[in-house]
Amino acid sequence: MPIDIYDDNLFRKDFPFFESENGEYVYFNSAATALKPRCVIDAVCDYYSNYSANVDRGVDSLGYKVTKMYNAAREKTADFIGAHDSDTVIFTKGATAALNMVAHSFGEIAVKSGDEIVTSMAEHHSNFLPWQQLAAKKGAKLIFAPTDTLGRVTVQALESVMSEKTKIVALNHISNVYGAKNDIKALAATAHKYGAYFVCDGAQGITHEPAEVEKNDIDFYAFSGHKIMGPTGIGVLYGKRELLEQMPPAEFGGEMVYIVDYESADGTQFKDLPERHEAGTPPIGQVIGMGAAIDYISSIGYDTIQRRVAFLKDYMINELEKKCPNIEIYNKEQNDSGIVTFNVKGVHSHDAASVFDNDKIIIRAGHHCSQTSHALMCVPTSLRASLYIYNTKPEIDRFVDAAKKAEGFLDVLFS
Ligand code: ALA
Repeated sequence: MPIDIYDDNLFRKDFPFFESENGEYVYFNSAATALKPRCVIDAVCDYYSNYSANVDRGVDSLGYKVTKMYNAAREKTADFIGAHDSDTVIFTKGATAALNMVAHSFGEIAVKSGDEIVTSMAEHHSNFLPWQQLAAKKGAKLIFAPTDTLGRVTVQALESVMSEKTKIVALNHISNVYGAKNDIKALAATAHKYGAYFVCDGAQGITHEPAEVEKNDIDFYAFSGHKIMGPTGIGVLYGKRELLEQMPPAEFGGEMVYIVDYESADGTQFKDLPERHEAGTPPIGQVIGMGAAIDYISSIGYDTIQRRVAFLKDYMINELEKKCPNIEIYNKEQNDSGIVTFNVKGVHSHDAASVFDNDKIIIRAGHHCSQTSHALMCVPTSLRASLYIYNTKPEIDRFVDAAKKAEGFLDVLFS
């Protein structure tokens, strides 16, 4: 039977949150963290309840079973992002940790004084600060590729700042403020034309778009489990094998080393991929939970996710435009995600957010960890509603009613 993407109940039943004591909340903050389906919660609970052993650290049958499940989750993750080799999937704490790992470890060998690193003003702080720090440490120059009105970098814009000095191009797949998609395949090809590496922050991209790291010829791709409806505390750094092999380990400790030479660091031999980049006990429960989230997303399919989210987002924008003349939307033309970024004219975002909160509507207020995006938009802060598959039209109606109240915030304050 074909899927009816207009059916508000299609996915709702999969999310225990809506039956919880907080189920009356309208949750429009999925770009910050997505709600978790029952299958993810069950998988995590099952691990901790029934076979809570460590991986790769014993010769017992329970340890083997857990190790097998853990490795299966890595295979699944590789498959999900379009990587044929699961060793190129490194588990991290999250997208932030993954991007820091590339900047600190790969950046250490790839960037030297006088080189250039290209990023954009439309990046999350996690894909800006590590590069700023690296550039400062190495005496390299940080350059911003120009962006269009939706925070995207076109090939032409990237070309305008590239040179033989460029060593790294670090851009997002989808911006967490504008919600618009970069053409990462074309941008990676442009970076490669100049001999630079392409690092992609996929934290918001992978929730709406396949990463397809090999088809897109991406050098490094980073994302978090919790944004794809998995647990917090787990993320992925994908890297091309030859690059991950060159990259020195960022951390040292248990299970990442073959031979320890106690007399000389030169004699110590680290393991092959992926273990050399995963020192210490890994986040096993989170990896298994993320595997369940990947199964869930894969069973739905990106096409359905995109159509359902676009339907909800278009409805929200139409209703706001029709009913709320004092709402200024900064990204209404974007067609790539459930992110709607706006302000209520004359009302600070934190004040406006309190009006939404009063009506039990959760949105994000502030700079959303991207002060540079707000510099581009020429506003100090904004409000962001971010929709996902489990949201509904009646929730959007409640949101629009609250937006109308927020428009009257100053009148109420001074009446
Ligand atoms: N990076 C997350 C956001 O944009 C937390 O809200």
